Order: sequence, then structure tokens, then C-alpha cells
Amino acid sequence: MLDKQAILDAYQFRHACKAYDPARKISDDDFRFILETGRLSPSSFGLEPWRFVVVQEPQTRALIRDMAWGAREKVMECSHFVVILARQPAMLSPDGDYLPRFMREVQHLPEEAVQMRLRFFRNFSEKDFELAGHPRAFYDWACKQTYIALGNMLTAAAMIGVDSTAIEGFPLEAMNSALAGRGLYDPAQFKLSVMAAFGYRLNAPQPKTRQRLQDVVQWA
Ligand SMILES: Cc1cc2nc3c(=O)[nH]c(=O)nc-3n(C[C@H](O)[C@H](O)[C@H](O)COP(=O)(O)O)c2cc1C
Repeated sequence: MLDKQAILDAYQFRHACKAYDPARKISDDDFRFILETGRLSPSSFGLEPWRFVVVQEPQTRALIRDMAWGAREKVMECSHFVVILARQPAMLSPDGDYLPRFMREVQHLPEEAVQMRLRFFRNFSEKDFELAGHPRAFYDWACKQTYIALGNMLTAAAMIGVDSTAIEGFPLEAMNSALAGRGLYDPAQFKLSVMAAFGYRLNAPQPKTRQRLQDVVQWA
């Protein structure tokens, strides 16, 4: 068991880092650890509808700096910058090729279980969550899963003393077109969800402000 106080200390340590020290780089081993916590994150139906694009190339970072107001003063200086993608609704259709292949090859499900899961997922996407036929809702649902990975990566980074910033300060459609246009991904398969910077802080953070536990927790 991990020490509870040490874990809470990491939650206090994590803050939305506003300025990174360009001289300090995260080691390959530490960054791999952060990515691993994204990869191991849970997702609805275990579909892992994400991809993590680590953007180290300066021209692409400059493009992001120029378009993403939330990334300015971070994206050029941080050690590692990650663009998190969500799988496009067409890829997640129970009628497509991708889901059954994913269930067979990644989840190692036998054929009977694949067909059963596809039936469940069809019911879920058509009836329970009303995603099918609503591309924006379907995309947002995939994005929700990516935010679980995002949260885990931010926390894991803090646990090893690495600073981070979640970034959704950008015009979504324009930024997505620009990144796909640079060849980072196939827009038929993925769409930009959220971004994150990782590195080491230049300045001490502002004191953390949060609502009190009793104001956000309700027992029923
Ligand atoms: C999904 C998400 C998107 C965010 N986008 C930005 C951003 O674009 N730029 C930025 O400087 N901070 C961004 N933040 C940081 C939040 O403003 C910050 O987490 C919040 O004010 C709480 O402060 P703390 O993280 O320092 O505790 C984002 C946070 C989250 C969770």
C-alpha cells in the first residue's frame, strides 16, 4: 500500500504550471512512466478510444503556440507536449470493422463474447447514451474517456515530481484541422480532444483554492 499522505502531497504539488524551465528535460524513463499511466487508464467498455501524440518537433509546437491561447508560454519551453486524440465516431460504430477487430486482437475475446459485447455496445450507444446518430455527442463521449487518461497522467507526473498543464484553450475545429493537416493523424480516424504540457516549473505556484469537502460531497 502507498502512503496516503504522500499521494495527497502529489495532488497538492500538481498545479496548472504556467511557465516551464526550458533547461530541464524529463528523462525518457520518467516520461515513459507517465505515458504508461495513460495507456493503463480505464475507459467505457474498455475501448481505449485515445491516442497520445508526443509533439517534440519545434515547427509543430510553434503552430500550437500561435493558435492555442491556453498553450502560449508553455508549449515551446516545456519538456514534453502531448496532443491527446479521441477516436472518431465512425470508428466506434458497432457496424464497422474496428470494434470487432479491437475486441478480438486487443481484448482477446472469443467470437461469442465479441458478438455479445457488440450487441451491448449497440444498445448503449443507440439507447442508453443516445450517441449513435449524434456525431458531436459521440465525439464528446470518446473525449470523456481521454480525460480519464489525461487526469491519470497529470497525477502520475506529480507523483514523480514532474509538473504539467492540461490545455483545452484552443479553437477546436481550426486546431484539429491544422494538426491533421500537418500529418499528425488521419482525421477520419481521430479528432483532437485535449492537450497537455509536461516539464519542470519556473515559478512557485499560486496557493491552491478548492471548495470544501462538505460542499462538494453529498451523502444520500
Ligand atoms: C481540461 C482542462 C483544461 C485546461 N486548459 C488550460 C489551458 O488551456 N491553459 C491553462 O493555462 N490552464 C488550463 N487548465 C488549468 C486549469 O485552469 C486549472 O487546473 C484550474 O484552475 C485549477 O488549478 P490547479 O490545476 O492549479 O489546481 C486546464 C485544466 C483542465 C483540467
